Amino acid sequence: MSTLKVDVKNVLGTVSAEQIQELNPAAAAALDKLHNGTGAGADFLGWVNLPGDTTDALLADIEACAKQLRDNCDVVVAIGIGGSYLGAKAVIEALGDSFSMLRTDDKRRCRVLFAGQNIGEDYLNELQDLLRDKKFGIIVISKSGTTTEPAIAFRLLKEQLESQLGKAEASKRIVAITDAKRGALRQLATEEGYKTFVIEDNVGGRFSVLTPVGLLPIAVAGFDIRALVEGARRMQKATVAPGDENPAVLYATTRNALYRAGKKIEILVNYNPKLHFFAEWWKQLYGESEGKDHKGIFPAAVDNSTDLHSMGQWIQDGERTIFETVLSVETQQHTTVIPSDEANLDGLNYLAGKRVDEVNKMAELGTRIAHVDGGVPNLRITVPALKEEYLGELIYFFEKACGISGYILDVNPFNQPGVEDYKRNMFALLEKPGYEAETAAIKAKL
Ligand code: PA5
Repeated sequence: MSTLKVDVKNVLGTVSAEQIQELNPAAAAALDKLHNGTGAGADFLGWVNLPGDTTDALLADIEACAKQLRDNCDVVVAIGIGGSYLGAKAVIEALGDSFSMLRTDDKRRCRVLFAGQNIGEDYLNELQDLLRDKKFGIIVISKSGTTTEPAIAFRLLKEQLESQLGKAEASKRIVAITDAKRGALRQLATEEGYKTFVIEDNVGGRFSVLTPVGLLPIAVAGFDIRALVEGARRMQKATVAPGDENPAVLYATTRNALYRAGKKIEILVNYNPKLHFFAEWWKQLYGESEGKDHKGIFPAAVDNSTDLHSMGQWIQDGERTIFETVLSVETQQHTTVIPSDEANLDGLNYLAGKRVDEVNKMAELGTRIAHVDGGVPNLRITVPALKEEYLGELIYFFEKACGISGYILDVNPFNQPGVEDYKRNMFALLEKPGYEAETAAIKAKL
């Protein structure tokens, strides 16, 4: 049994239960396509049975590699972008200590930093400066093995590691995660003798967090990847059958019913700062999967209550084309009680004795009531706590719902043709060999 709950009652002022249920046959057809590989993009369905198919041997190999990196490195830099970055970042931030980089005790300290997710010169320069007196390792992740952003970061950090340790020693601290055969990274890893893990052909980048792409950095950060996969396995079982009892079906049908009713933007809302990057992962998953053929819900996100003081006005009172999906975490890991103060100069004694989370929960409830009254339909997804097993459930839940939702929308949820356009222009502007015609064409536009 999965522990995640989906509550759609607060959308019923905008769409009816019948309008949601009318989409159940389309959701059942979508499930059938996902389970039997009969829909568009069927070559990329490896993620559907991935949790159940993940072997103990693979998990043991990842854990051993993570231990080796942890034992030998103060810092491990995970290099990757998009699907080769966001899943690991999301899970590590959700599970980790908020101030992990400054912790000195082993349990709360995180060794993982990220690079290759941008082309920021200052970012890379400052990272190299930080690593100058550190024992560091590298996990370089790229399915295609040719993506420019991680390739630049890897070239810089590989050179630095080799100059700090010598080539032979450096190659023991580099792990590559890439295609089994294709791409520059595979070739380089083979020639340099790096430890490698394979990203299977049939798992697309944004669906790859439960492969070594996500699992290795998460394990290096000190988290329990077996519990994460176990949670995903539970959700895999809970999302097989058609109908409303399947939480992924309920979420997919409800958001599509809202889209058809003119709600074109979905805001994923959290009340826990540790979920900021989880929302970034979700944005990629849904944005790249659904935004095509001039269709698709625009995925946005806010971190509350922080953003109630910035985006709150627009959400409460702006154009009524939005709905929100609140990711609510039932319990916190720590307890902090607001103290009483004899002078009460700040007038806060009415909160004395309450946990900070009680205040946060009332902020959430008060906002939900205000938003629903103000014409913002509210979906609520509840998880018990930010722990590995529940995040595993949540990840698989969103992946499965995304596949169902994309097929209801009648797009191919598993390609991303639009991502290539900027790359073509960038290569043309940088005069990459092989792009001569594009270079001439783009220069004519400048
Ligand atoms: O979802 C996707 O496929 C993309 O976002 C990729 O993950 C991203 O472009 C990185 O690609 P690669 O892993 O090939 O470097």
